[in-house]
Amino acid sequence: RYSPTPGDKFTFGLWTVGWQGRDPFGDATRPALDPVESVRRLADLGAYGVTFHDDDLIPFGAGDSERESLVKRFRQALDATGMKVPMATTNLFTHPVFKDGGFTANDRDVRRFALRKTLRNIDLAVELGATTYVAWGGREGSESGGAKDVRIALDRMKEAFDLLGDYVTEQGYDLRFAIEPKPNEPRGDILLPTIGHALAFIERLERPELVGVNPETGHEQMAGLNFPHGIAQALWAGKLFHIDLNGQSGIKYDQDLRFGAGDLRQAFWLVDLLETAGYQGPRHFDFKPVRTDGFDGVWESAAGCMRNYLILKERAAAFRADPAVRQALRDSRLHELAQPTAEDGLSGLLADRDAYEDFDVTAAAERSMAFERLDQLAMEHLLAVR
Ligand code: GCO
Ligand code: MN
Ligand code: MN
Ligand code: MN
Repeated sequence: RYSPTPGDKFTFGLWTVGWQGRDPFGDATRPALDPVESVRRLADLGAYGVTFHDDDLIPFGAGDSERESLVKRFRQALDATGMKVPMATTNLFTHPVFKDGGFTANDRDVRRFALRKTLRNIDLAVELGATTYVAWGGREGSESGGAKDVRIALDRMKEAFDLLGDYVTEQGYDLRFAIEPKPNEPRGDILLPTIGHALAFIERLERPELVGVNPETGHEQMAGLNFPHGIAQALWAGKLFHIDLNGQSGIKYDQDLRFGAGDLRQAFWLVDLLETAGYQGPRHFDFKPVRTDGFDGVWESAAGCMRNYLILKERAAAFRADPAVRQALRDSRLHELAQPTAEDGLSGLLADRDAYEDFDVTAAAERSMAFERLDQLAMEHLLAVR
């Protein structure tokens, strides 16, 4: 029970279990982890695959022969375990050259370098079987008003995604891009800070069909937003290409807790949504095992992410199956929300006296929505007392 299998499609970034615990105030508390070891351990735990930044696999600045042998070892580990690589991404934030950003750095040479670094890793991503390429622009932004002309920076951001779209189209790659929003950290204010900003940006691109979003639980919650609502809108727009699951407690620094920690109720509604909306993509965990722990805590938390997802999946299914919940949903008139407001058209609406002239406003205002009963039932299913 609650034991993950590859069919659950759980994936982990190499940088998650591999995080050494460096933070702005302290040095690493754990030694580096060999990507091959991560692949083996995560496979043993029941994961489906791993994802990586170029620099997670091949240290920045490595020569061609080192690169080749590292990729070869990694590929052997994938083959031996059956682990997949559904997604890859570019590190455009660690090296000091990216201190003012990658695609939107004021320095043009840096922008050209960032694009070349990305194109190079796209080739490797496709070679390893990835079909999604994530772009998290953590350094795209500013700390002060005059330092970035945001409208012009968005022109450069669009230019970058248009070029990337041209490249995968010319190469005939089966690869789509997923923009990962975040409001701040490491930059004071990051461009495309929320799901909504990213969705609006994507529609301005030359090939919008190639670009979607990769929302992260904690990032929307850092902005005080409701993560399941954001995911619902991304699904509604057909743009949920990938997802980063983790935990966050309120509006503060990016905690990257294991999935299920932080806001548990939002985690419940999120799993309910993903499982009922038919989301087919990987359930990707992007978390940081707390730096107080050794490798015991690393593997414990990786297992915990998957276990918590499966527990919540069971709880959400129990909620949906409960006859009392079905009645409560009817009492709350969810079925009415599913009906078009004016299937009779504008003329029908205008001719309908019951809609306005004869509408009993007082009676309608007095009808209870019965939401408290519905939410208490959800709470009791979440707490497994029903
Ligand atoms: C964060 C981000 C990053 C990105 C990852 C992909 O926590 O700020 O989630 O972890 O997801 O680096 O580029
Ligand atoms: Mn994060
Ligand atoms: Mn992320
Ligand atoms: Mn992260």
